[in-house]
Amino acid sequence: MTAPTLRSPARLPQPPGHPVIGHLWPWTFAPVPLLAAGARTGEVFRLRLWRSTLVGYRPEWNRAVLGDLDTFRSRGSLSGLTPYLADGVVHTDLPAHAPHRRALNPHFHSQAVRQLTDRLRAAVQSGLPGRYFDALPWAGSVVRRMLSAALFGDRIPQSLLERFLAPLHRPNPAPLLPRPRLFRRMNTAIAAVVADPVPGTLAAAVAGEAAAGGDLDPVAELRVALAAGYDTTAHTLAWTLWWLAGSPAWRDPESLPMVLDEILRLYPAGWLGSRVAARDTEVCGVAIPAGTMVCYSPYLTHRDPGLWPEPDQFRPDRFTAGRPAWGFIPFAAGRRTCLGAQLARAMLTCASEPFLAGPLRQLNGDPSVVAGITLRPHGPLWLSWRGE
Ligand code: HEM
Repeated sequence: MTAPTLRSPARLPQPPGHPVIGHLWPWTFAPVPLLAAGARTGEVFRLRLWRSTLVGYRPEWNRAVLGDLDTFRSRGSLSGLTPYLADGVVHTDLPAHAPHRRALNPHFHSQAVRQLTDRLRAAVQSGLPGRYFDALPWAGSVVRRMLSAALFGDRIPQSLLERFLAPLHRPNPAPLLPRPRLFRRMNTAIAAVVADPVPGTLAAAVAGEAAAGGDLDPVAELRVALAAGYDTTAHTLAWTLWWLAGSPAWRDPESLPMVLDEILRLYPAGWLGSRVAARDTEVCGVAIPAGTMVCYSPYLTHRDPGLWPEPDQFRPDRFTAGRPAWGFIPFAAGRRTCLGAQLARAMLTCASEPFLAGPLRQLNGDPSVVAGITLRPHGPLWLSWRGE
């Protein structure tokens, strides 16, 4: 039997681009249409950016790229471009990644997260919106309060948290710029919390792990968790409220997990993930030279009609039929799966619950997607609730 011929990256299809600057222009200003155009050319396609880049979206590709942490590395990938993510476990590769996750995982598992529910609910109750509200800024403020409670026991001033997190809402390049003074202030505030943490918070758990040995830096881990958990969850929540307002039939506690899955499918905040190949390898019949940037895209996977019939429709009941392996990856998958997935689901649930009973209506808004570091609704998303 002869070995199948591998395709070289140069021979892969690519979406239309500029002869000189390649795809840099649409990558900067309209990355989602660029990806969608790429997906129409093939299951693995090439982008001409500042470095050789491949994108795939089929389950076999996701499994290969997300499953092999030794070959596909985080350092040098897109997350390294923003100071908000270029640290802690996000920026750690094997062999250090494994013990870091072993230390952190138990504190982010569903059982541990359940212990935080009262704090999350109290944070929601302390800031319910008025009768008319824009779901996008409200989601930002409530997620900030929930993270403040769960991570730090509310020991960090909201004004500092707000300043630190604000650039994540702004378009690129705002989240990519270095902000050394702001980061120093945030580090100092987190270090003070870690020195004397509120029992039962994630700061107490992470401080305990650091004190027990290993090379975990509790300040970096908590700061990265705060940033990684903020706009991702806030944008998902804003879309959730918009669709709950538009679909009264789905507004009940039993259906909420399916509604959340459908929102995470349609609007995966982490719309594109990247790795750098540490050695020459091959995936799905494509030869991948060392140094290539290799991307997976939850957005493309979740809109693949071969996996999800009528993929652009909001149909939470599709989840009664299960989900395709490596075909539903809002939190990525494998050993690098989102550390905060259970916490994110708990925050989304606690913040949606008050809106399940009683009138909730869409007023006007634009829920279409805009891509920066994370996917977000164009907005505004004006809603009314409570007594009309
Ligand atoms: C709806 C909300 C969220 C979404 C959609 C989301 C999505 C993701 C995705 C796709 C990844 C994989 C990135 C990659 O390696 O390519 C990831 C990683 C990560 N997320 Fe989340 N996330 C969310 C909320 C959170 C929360 C609440 C936290 C913590 C408080 C968090 C902390 C992290 C961390 C630390 C990693 C890196 C894990 C590692 O590299 O081992 N995320 N997230």
